[in-house]
Amino acid sequence: MSLLEVQNVSIRFGGVDAVRGVSLAVEEQQLLGFIGPNGAGKTTMMRIIMGMVRPQQGSVEFRGKDITQWSVQHRVQLGLALAQQIVKPLHSLTLLDNVALAAGARHMRNPLQAFLNVDRSEARDQARNLLDFVGIGNVNNAFPSEVPLGFIKRMEVARALALEPGLLLLDEPLAGLNQTEARDLADLIASLVTPSRSVLLIEHNIGEVARICSEIYVQENGQRLMQDKAERVMASAALRQAYLGEHKA
Ligand SMILES: Nc1ncnc2c1ncn2[C@@H]1O[C@H](COP(=O)(O)OP(=O)(O)OP(=O)(O)O)[C@@H](O)[C@H]1O
Ligand SMILES: [Mg+2]
Repeated sequence: MSLLEVQNVSIRFGGVDAVRGVSLAVEEQQLLGFIGPNGAGKTTMMRIIMGMVRPQQGSVEFRGKDITQWSVQHRVQLGLALAQQIVKPLHSLTLLDNVALAAGARHMRNPLQAFLNVDRSEARDQARNLLDFVGIGNVNNAFPSEVPLGFIKRMEVARALALEPGLLLLDEPLAGLNQTEARDLADLIASLVTPSRSVLLIEHNIGEVARICSEIYVQENGQRLMQDKAERVMASAALRQAYLGEHKA
């Protein structure tokens, strides 16, 4: 049995078929790359898996449970977490408190309640460790508006890790980073995969995806194009065609 099994999901926004009949599986202890041109429906797939939108067709199973109708909070409790493409930090809180809030939320139904009630020093210790781990421990006490986008992206990864997920969904974590920073964060992402944690990594930085992921799933125009070993995906004519099509559009 796969850790995550998405079957035949579809969602339509107005006239747009954002995702059409997509099936996708993530195994235990897997780092699966997820690529595709702009507008391919990658973020929409992440939102379906996380429960932020409901598919109009199809099902999502995680750890053997059908979670298609579950709330985001219940999915978090079962072990899913998402680092979003467009990060929405709480601007009135420091980076440390943004992560501490998530660390507290892991154990409570209401994140705000968690922030006020749980042992904040424990959540803050955990947050400090996570910010060190993602390499921005030196700006713990900065506010989101005071640091570059690359730092905010790392904070978002720390925030997702604070939820102690069994499957971490990352939506373009390398965006906004320079080549060296991207390489460093990609190495860190690869190190996140353990016997108890898998990662589904959406990225436009295909070079880094091919470097750290042994397997890659490709989506184009809301549909599954292929899923195969990284070398085979990178060598395929269909992949080149998908990205050429993007440039023609
Ligand atoms: N809430 C929404 N309402 C209307 N249309 C939407 C909504 N969310 C996504 N779409 C549309 O669905 C399609 C897929 O969008 P999505 O953001 O999932 O693509 P993506 O692969 O993540 O793209 P990118 O690489 O640019 O992040 C696009 O045509 C987008 O405009
Ligand atoms: Mg996206």
